[in-house]
Amino acid sequence: MAMQDDGQVIGVIGAGQMGAGIAQVSAAAGYRVLLGDVDQARAEAGKAGIAKRLARAVDKGQIDTAARDATLARIEPIAGAAAMAPCDLVIEAATEREDIKRRIFADVGAVLRDDAILASNTSSIPITRLAQAAPDAARFIGVHFFNPVPVMGLIEVIRGLATADTTVAAIELYAERLGKAVVRANDAPGFIVNRVLMPMLNEACFALGEGVATIRDIDLACELGLNHPMGPLTLADFIGLDTCLDITRVLFEGTGDPKFRPAPLLVKYVEAGWYGRKTGRGFYDYSGAEPVPTR
Ligand code: 3HC
Repeated sequence: MAMQDDGQVIGVIGAGQMGAGIAQVSAAAGYRVLLGDVDQARAEAGKAGIAKRLARAVDKGQIDTAARDATLARIEPIAGAAAMAPCDLVIEAATEREDIKRRIFADVGAVLRDDAILASNTSSIPITRLAQAAPDAARFIGVHFFNPVPVMGLIEVIRGLATADTTVAAIELYAERLGKAVVRANDAPGFIVNRVLMPMLNEACFALGEGVATIRDIDLACELGLNHPMGPLTLADFIGLDTCLDITRVLFEGTGDPKFRPAPLLVKYVEAGWYGRKTGRGFYDYSGAEPVPTR
């Protein structure tokens, strides 16, 4: 499959934050996009979120109304895997649960053309293992986007043991058309970004738990002392503390190295259901106009 021609169809499975972001940037780059979720209402809600973000971009003068309308017209919300049959590339961006992803690969695999590529946006599940649930491991690959997708300029491409060179080349063309830089990672726990990022976020949780400093001061130290756009505790809340813990556990279990052990405070917050922005509370309380540190 060559990803440079007009008229190619990208399928995105999962119309949540990541899936909708991937659909938006793919449509903006000129691809026709099928945005799928378990039911039509969720798929439509994903498209509605994209419409809102594009409306803001129009207000800011970043795009004109014609570009907004053209991008939206290229996105078709759909329900179920069967509708993905016309796709040249299907990117799975569903919940980070292996059983769910495996079921999706089986369902989509049953209808996919035999020259189409299946990709996963997984942040940490091994690609070689996931490929076992795909129709053809040679045409299966990891394509890791970053949140917020329209803003972040990177795609991490992860090849499994059996991924073909032609599959990598096709994905790199797709990424280029999206205007994203590509880094290539081997199928090791956490790939590149999460291998480096999660220990930092986890260490910030250790530092907070050990009373090194307050939430505000840990975040401000990294924002101003390291020039990071967000402090580590703000970023952990943004990503989701449950997700951070899951990925840290993948690093810990996948390497067997105790340096990756999850911070007790991170575990406690997740046990409390304090997952960050998405639940209204993590290290910060998000119930008011501005986030307020909780400790
Ligand atoms: N969706 C789309 N666009 C968004 C957005 C969203 N959710 N949130 C912010 N933006 C856009 C704004 O529209 C604005 O665009 P503009 O400059 O073109 O007008 C731009 O981002 C900056 O937004 P703001 O001025 O409102 O806010 P900030 O300057 O504070 O930037 C931020 C917000 C871009 C999120 C910035 O804080 C940032 O880069 N933070 C770090 C994000 C990061 O590290 N992401 C990676 C997480 S790790 C990951 O995704 C991997 C996974 O596996 C865990």
